[in-house]
Amino acid sequence: MKIKNVTVAGSGVLGYQIAFQTAFKGFNVTVYDINEEAITKAQAKFEILSKKYQEDLGATPEQLKQTKANLSYSSDLAQATAQADLVIEAVPENLKIKIKFYNDLAEVAPVHTIFATNSSTLIPSQIAEATKRPKQFLALHFANEIGKHNTAEIMGHDHTDPAIFNQIVEFATNIGMIALPLHKEQPGYILNTLLVPLLDAATELLVKEVADAPTIDKTWMVATGAPIGPCGILDIIGITTAYNIIKMTADATKDPLKLKMAAYLQKEFLDKNKLGVGTGEGFYTYPNPAFRAKDFLK
Ligand SMILES: NC(=O)c1ccc[n+]([C@@H]2O[C@H](COP(=O)([O-])OP(=O)(O)OC[C@H]3O[C@@H](n4cnc5c(N)ncnc54)[C@H](O)[C@@H]3O)[C@@H](O)[C@H]2O)c1
Repeated sequence: MKIKNVTVAGSGVLGYQIAFQTAFKGFNVTVYDINEEAITKAQAKFEILSKKYQEDLGATPEQLKQTKANLSYSSDLAQATAQADLVIEAVPENLKIKIKFYNDLAEVAPVHTIFATNSSTLIPSQIAEATKRPKQFLALHFANEIGKHNTAEIMGHDHTDPAIFNQIVEFATNIGMIALPLHKEQPGYILNTLLVPLLDAATELLVKEVADAPTIDKTWMVATGAPIGPCGILDIIGITTAYNIIKMTADATKDPLKLKMAAYLQKEFLDKNKLGVGTGEGFYTYPNPAFRAKDFLK
């Protein structure tokens, strides 16, 4: 079976980006969300993303016209999935919501439909049973701003059919992603398994007052050749997200260092509304952060 019709469930921050990119690459895409209001909002996002694709990726008016023609919208799950070869799920990061969604989806989707979750922190085996078709279920994980940051991490669970897995690797490539297959389940996939400890370590150095943010970033950039250091990355991700991750671990483990790290981010950044690139200030000020200056590494 060739994948032609894709339904993206959940049209929030990531869902709509996935839908747009998939339609941009020529697939028929149905955007599904639970309520009409969310659907109306999704339709409005078309103009915003079109502008971004024009500016950042050089998309032509013809390509954008075709993208629009490839997109349709529905708040009725049965209708939205009636023709679907693949459903990409981007509903909120909450296990209960996801389980309920897959229970409903299993009732209405055609038997051949493949289900893929975009979950960042859950692993497929936590959800597989609810899909009622574990062999046709896996994770397909995108990054924010997928047009530019085009990673697609593909992660099955023990019972994912290898042929389905390979088909999704091919699909990811066909929608312009760099397909990154994982051989087994790993919370945080590849990227966050690497990135979260780096960002935590930078926060630890700051909390212990070992060095300041520009020195930490400079060390990383000069020594590894990376174009950006961990504090610069924290500004891009948004300090609220970093805080939420550290706070969750701190609350669960009561680790004094993690509690201190969470309190530090709260006091120095959240309380001052210095949330990173989004608010114009975090560790650096934007749009011209110091680490991009020519003499930063000197
Ligand atoms: N935001 C990110 O940077 C990012 C990056 C990678 C992966 N993800 C993952 O993508 C998923 C979605 O995250 P998001 O940030 O786009 O969330 P979001 O809250 O912005 O969007 C979720 C959308 O799902 C809709 N929704 C809620 N319940 C639903 C249901 N039962 N059926 C259909 N739609 C429903 C909501 O109305 C909303 O539009 C999560 O699993 C998250 O881990 C997010």
